[in-house]
Amino acid sequence: MIKRIGVLTSGGDAPGMNAAVRAVVRACVFNKVEVEGIFRGYQGLIEGEFKRLNERTVAKILGRGGTILKSSRSKDFLTPEGRGRAAEQLKRHGIDALIAIGGNGTFTGAHVLCRETGIPVMGIPGSIDNDLYGTDHCIGFDTATNTVVECIDKIRDTATSHNRLFFVEVMGRNSGFIALKTGIATGAIAIILPEDEMSVDELIETLQSTEHSGKSSSIVIVAEGSKSGGAYEIARKVTEKYSEYETRVSVLGHLQRGGAPSCYDRVMASRMGVAAVEGLLQGRKDVMIGIINDRETYTPLEDAISRNHLPNRDELRIARILSI
Ligand code: F6P
Repeated sequence: MIKRIGVLTSGGDAPGMNAAVRAVVRACVFNKVEVEGIFRGYQGLIEGEFKRLNERTVAKILGRGGTILKSSRSKDFLTPEGRGRAAEQLKRHGIDALIAIGGNGTFTGAHVLCRETGIPVMGIPGSIDNDLYGTDHCIGFDTATNTVVECIDKIRDTATSHNRLFFVEVMGRNSGFIALKTGIATGAIAIILPEDEMSVDELIETLQSTEHSGKSSSIVIVAEGSKSGGAYEIARKVTEKYSEYETRVSVLGHLQRGGAPSCYDRVMASRMGVAAVEGLLQGRKDVMIGIINDRETYTPLEDAISRNHLPNRDELRIARILSI
């Protein structure tokens, strides 16, 4: 019987994580379960940074970016000793189950902890990269893409005014979701994804053909995880062979991770937070809550971390048609 649940956020923060924390806490209180906030992710778990939360301590955080629980990428938790200390802390604080909000690294840790200690764990996907299998969207992705679109629209003004070619690098360590969606939404001439690399020669051909039809400025979106190098490297390779345009590079970086969550992220995080608590109370463990086709779905953590969630190839085809 679960009487006390621990909740933590780990890895890169994502807008909407606070909405998920609020939903977890309130769903616990609603179900008469106590809830401990664990600060600084797995590092705080190891070091015993716990604080009892209630429905009022999570008031007015629904619309705030970042995570009130703070986050970390804990190296200690990667070691059996670190996980041993974490398990002791959970026992000392009387925690019967753990909810971990984060991405791939967070769930890898949660899965190992569950296997080694038997403690029920539940993952909630929070990652602007959107790269987890078992959910259509991760918390934070929608907000991050809206932020990127706002930035690129502004860059477009300068590109147009100066007849320039811009290479804009967006986040996505191993995945091109942000690049693909924002590339379509901002009318990029090309989108360079880790899942489908466009060669420098192909890119130059595209630039040449649109220039012939009268295009005077362009935007190329490069996902951070692209195998041909980041935006600076690709811009260098292109300008070496093709120097028709004045070229600039803009790396959007961490501004993509902050800010108030969108309505979509707030609602999704709220649904997932409630379903995470309900899933644990129903006896589920070692799973991630996701939403697929608008329905709450539980996927084994092992699948969530090992199986691929790939961008829609048809969207790439559409982007190519529309960039002529
Ligand atoms: O996983 C989310 C993410 O924002 C990636 O897109 C990026 O590569 C990484 O985190 C950056 O991490 P950090 O903030 O630790 O530099």
